[in-house]
Amino acid sequence: MMTTADSFRVSAEAYDRFMGRYSRPLALALIDFAGIEAGARTLDVGCGPGALTAALAERFGETRVVGADPSEPFVEACRSRMPAVEAVVAPAEDLPFDDGSFDATLSQLVVNFMNDPAAGVREMRRVTRAGGVVASCVWDYAGEMTLLRIFWQAAHDVDPERAAVADEARWKHWGDEGQLARLWRDAGLSEVRCESLTVSARYVDYEDLWSPLQAGVGPAGAFCKSLDELGRAALRDALRNHLGVADGPFELQALAWAVAGTVGA
Ligand SMILES: C[S@@+](CC[C@H](N)C(=O)[O-])C[C@H]1O[C@@H](n2cnc3c(N)ncnc32)[C@H](O)[C@@H]1O
Repeated sequence: MMTTADSFRVSAEAYDRFMGRYSRPLALALIDFAGIEAGARTLDVGCGPGALTAALAERFGETRVVGADPSEPFVEACRSRMPAVEAVVAPAEDLPFDDGSFDATLSQLVVNFMNDPAAGVREMRRVTRAGGVVASCVWDYAGEMTLLRIFWQAAHDVDPERAAVADEARWKHWGDEGQLARLWRDAGLSEVRCESLTVSARYVDYEDLWSPLQAGVGPAGAFCKSLDELGRAALRDALRNHLGVADGPFELQALAWAVAGTVGA
């Protein structure tokens, strides 16, 4: 049985085609929301193949950003894509950095995948200097993250029992502003604020959306990959019906809840 961690030990290209197309515009929105000052040294926790890392590098300089992720292939992709960026294999809950090493610590679409989110956010706070910012965002799984909400509706049609267990909107927390704000305050962060960030992704056709799902990326991809041939064909049709897309290009919107807080003295 594939674990969530396994579902992120995949190629960077497969990730990019599935979720990366949303990560890039979301990264720009998260950086603006976090309000990071020019010249900041930043850490990207759960960097994946590096969408937010790259956006931070472009804004603040490649030598001013560090990426950390437990997935070896993703860290390797960051290193080869951005040779001047330091990228380390590490989980949020055990960051290999001294206290106060960064001006800002960010994570994008990661808090809900941490084994221990409270410990992960405490670590993000520990490695950030006093007065620095800790910010994250998580998809609005049950609401306006169109691709994943509709994927799980289709999955429930095809295999209700297994979909009920795997559906990210049911087993993942932190997908709303109240929960995120509480997590941030409990980690000792102050001046906590939340905002919704909306981005969109373009698909050239339905195949462009469907084919990366079969690579097994993330919980949705893992569910798709676990089905037999008949089940996958049924999911393919059900997802297309739920999306209501015809032949040709289309665009989907996605909303994430963002949270930011300041490290006290
Ligand atoms: C949905 S991806 C987000 C990747 C990237 N931040 C982005 O925006 O595209 C989730 C990432 O969280 C990472 N992850 C899973 N468990 C983690 C943990 N305990 N600490 C840090 N990252 C974790 C995965 O390896 C994966 O790269």
